[in-house]
Amino acid sequence: MCGIVGYIGKREAYTIIMDGLKRLEYRGYDSAGIALYDGSEIKLCKTKGKVANLEARVKEEITTNGNVGIGHTRWATHGVPNDVNSHPHYSNSGDLVIIHNGIIENYDSIKTELLKRGYVFKSDTDTEVLINLIEEVKKKNNVKLGKAVQLALKEVVGAYAIAVFDKNKPDEIVVAKLGSPLAIGIGEDEFFIASDASPFIEYTKNAIYLEDEEMAIVRRDKKIKIRKINDDSEVTPAMQELKFNLEQIEKGGYEHFMLKEIHEQPNAIRDTYRGRLLANEGIIRMAGIDDNLEKFLNANRIIIVACGTSWHAGLVAEYIFEDLARIPVEVEYASEFRYRNPVITDKDVVIAISQSGETADTLAAIKLAKSKGAFVFGVCNVVGSTIARETNAGAYTHAGPEIGVASTKAFTTQITVLTLIALKLAKANGSMSKTVFHSHLQELELIPDKVKEALKADKHIKEVAHIYKDAKNCLYLGRGYNFPVALEGALKLKEISYIHAEGYPAAEMKHGPIALIDDQMPVFVIATKKGHYEKVVSNIQEIKSRSGKIIGIVTKGDIDVKKVADHVIEVPETIESLTPLLTTIPLQLLSYHIAVMLDKNVDQPRNLAKSVTVE
Ligand code: F6R
Repeated sequence: MCGIVGYIGKREAYTIIMDGLKRLEYRGYDSAGIALYDGSEIKLCKTKGKVANLEARVKEEITTNGNVGIGHTRWATHGVPNDVNSHPHYSNSGDLVIIHNGIIENYDSIKTELLKRGYVFKSDTDTEVLINLIEEVKKKNNVKLGKAVQLALKEVVGAYAIAVFDKNKPDEIVVAKLGSPLAIGIGEDEFFIASDASPFIEYTKNAIYLEDEEMAIVRRDKKIKIRKINDDSEVTPAMQELKFNLEQIEKGGYEHFMLKEIHEQPNAIRDTYRGRLLANEGIIRMAGIDDNLEKFLNANRIIIVACGTSWHAGLVAEYIFEDLARIPVEVEYASEFRYRNPVITDKDVVIAISQSGETADTLAAIKLAKSKGAFVFGVCNVVGSTIARETNAGAYTHAGPEIGVASTKAFTTQITVLTLIALKLAKANGSMSKTVFHSHLQELELIPDKVKEALKADKHIKEVAHIYKDAKNCLYLGRGYNFPVALEGALKLKEISYIHAEGYPAAEMKHGPIALIDDQMPVFVIATKKGHYEKVVSNIQEIKSRSGKIIGIVTKGDIDVKKVADHVIEVPETIESLTPLLTTIPLQLLSYHIAVMLDKNVDQPRNLAKSVTVE
């Protein structure tokens, strides 16, 4: 996720773009840049760090007048956050300049072709490849910028919201969208371009939201023209009147970042496997694993270190790795691991999981493992974070910035990455047949749509939340793959609603927690069809006979749990190893609604911080 802003009109572009970037900083904040046309040439300034760094640097480096410009605030995907990888990017000739939010999956093959034709690249980004592809297409076909963008995008696989301009034609900006958002604000003889309407809400209430596979040319003093990229057909602009305020726009119309992030999960999971999971070809492509395959295949065991929600993702991964790839796994709290003189050798592979990439305990565990000779692989969300740099290799989750303190999309995207790794290893070490491997890939590809379907139960979940919002204690039970989901469900409720909650393996209940059960105790039981279903149903009976209140998270169409539970919440059916990606959704929503009903600060719960950089 990145933020893009552009302006063309009569006002000073600099102020609009810089203010707009500050408003879009929630979309990414590892680097920022701006390109302004000053009447004779394009002036460009970009830097690692937040928009405030850019603002300070612009003052020293470039003049800020001019009525055309584009700006970018970055959440790195390809290439670490540094000055060179920051956007905007010039084409080789220096005539064209681009900003981009998204991922170009086939950038490597395009880059190889362009290198053969003599193009040189300063950055490691997919975006610099795209702008040079546009330049090449423009030259080769002798076409205008709009046509060149259209033809180039037909060669591209991936996601994008882009804005491009040409210093030789500074009265127009070309924009296009596929998969990433792009809004165009329509003023009087002026246009605003942005990832959402927040950068232009005080200038105009009229906006067009481009649809996927559409592109537009915005020209000073002219009407906007929108076309379909694929067949060049003209699209009648659908103007909307904006009724949101600024804060609502930044949160995408959701009341809280947490709710927005819960609803982002279908796209976030898709972004995680985009370019890696090639279901039709039966391939999983992950450079960090491909380059170190022998290390994984020769490992005695995998040790996973993490904290909090990331530790829960690690527990799910333990089931996945052992079940699918038959590799022994141990999952450790990083805070315990670092101080207990663990036995580690150079035959161990350590996987460190961290959304922020800055958690002090996880970082210390990594350093310890490295000092004992282990190979350390990172699974992080924040590109270029300390853990991402400190590990020997890694894979990013590409979930986009997670602002709500309670982790949601980080958890499901971590499980997605870990599933990809386990499947890759299962195929490589022969513990999974080709047919089963293929069916797993195909099912994983369906998960974003199934998450979307699970989210549709929101209204019902809200009703359930209302019934149990005043509970003082709650139990969460699950077995197998869904035991860690029970832990995660309890953590979500605790941290944002301050209700005491515990997660247990369902069968462990009778060894103690069952003493707590009475008619005041809500018990959330994950009882999906695949995986120990009958056993969980028996556990439910044990709760029922002690008057506990049962809320079952069940597979769509379930009959048995429905008969005994007080409420059921359905999720779509999937294979057992992927059920955590679905069963976790209603538990996130339940916690969210209960916290809202109790009037708690959902996005910034008391005593917590988004990244815990102290031990
Ligand atoms: C819970 C939560 C925390 C984090 C933990 C680790 O919702 O957000 O438990 O999961 O602090 O953080 P990362 O993943 O950044 O290492």
